[in-house]
Amino acid sequence: MAEIKLSLETEIGRIKLKNPVMVASGTFGYGEEFAELVDLKKLGAIVTKTITLKPREGNPPPRIVETPCGMLNAIGLENPGLEDFIKEKLSFLKKIGVPIIVSIGGDEIKEFVELARRLDKEKGISGLELNISCPNVSADRKPPPKASLAKGGKTENRKPQLIAKDEDATYELVKAVRQATNLSLITKLSPNVADIVAIGKAAVEGGSDALSLINTFSGMAIDIETRKPRLGNIIGGLSGPAIKPLALKAVWETAQQIDIPIIGMGGIMNWQDALEFIIAGASAVAIGTANFINPHSAVEIAQGIEDYLRKNRIKSIQELWRTVLRNFS
Ligand SMILES: Cc1cc2nc3c(=O)[nH]c(=O)nc-3n(C[C@H](O)[C@H](O)[C@H](O)COP(=O)(O)O)c2cc1C
Repeated sequence: MAEIKLSLETEIGRIKLKNPVMVASGTFGYGEEFAELVDLKKLGAIVTKTITLKPREGNPPPRIVETPCGMLNAIGLENPGLEDFIKEKLSFLKKIGVPIIVSIGGDEIKEFVELARRLDKEKGISGLELNISCPNVSADRKPPPKASLAKGGKTENRKPQLIAKDEDATYELVKAVRQATNLSLITKLSPNVADIVAIGKAAVEGGSDALSLINTFSGMAIDIETRKPRLGNIIGGLSGPAIKPLALKAVWETAQQIDIPIIGMGGIMNWQDALEFIIAGASAVAIGTANFINPHSAVEIAQGIEDYLRKNRIKSIQELWRTVLRNFS
């Protein structure tokens, strides 16, 4: 049988990817750390560790704990800050030759706006991922006061603890960042909400070009010998295979109702997992925890997707979607 002409190309906003497999924020440093191990040119895109305006030291150790079928992390956004990122990390990243997506975070909308305005001036950046969903910054550590719970989680003068938990705050943040930059905007959603699709819709209304789903699930672990939490921060974010079915459902539900591209992630360990996310409606996937087990995961997963398409004589991701009944009815 004749070989078919195959393309793994996909688009996230205005970002063109030669294959749909990227590395997830915080699990691949700033690329350089993996340069001797991995052929970085084979990645669909690189999403950097989240940077903030000023350097941050992160949370007290221990910051990572292994759990059944997953891991808990409470890194707490340790990063060198915007200026050092531009001076020391960006020059390496922009020479790689794959789209670079810079993940940005902060405690307030104006911090995101300032980051976006400054990064907009730099060459070699394809897009920004808005990390509005990190569950480890200190504001999220304390449970809400009882008064707040009695009012359904809201009090009049209380700011939401995470922007990603609030539709209005998500809309305001994305809209403000949209006005500060022409770079493609990807909003990264938290699964720690009642209705993730509603938050996604708010991001679309604000002007987001794409969505990343999902960040980690809030969790904790206790050492019964010391009778203390295993993480210095007490709570952390659960990732890895344990969360895959939950992440897949979030991607599928969102893809049913929202038309902008989705980057699916959460427990993807191999090409079969990645294909599940694409069949559920993701335009691309991001590999996170798997990088800690096998740094070649993303490259191997891209190859696995290519082999699957070839074997099934499907020419592209778009053609794969056409073979799928999205509502699975
Ligand atoms: C050690 C670690 C650090 C992370 N740091 C970030 C981060 O800085 N910014 C962010 O948006 N997500 C961060 N994440 C979340 C991942 O990007 C990803 O959304 C999540 O881990 C789910 O994917 P996975 O199960 O494949 O790891 C981090 C995850 C891990 C495990």
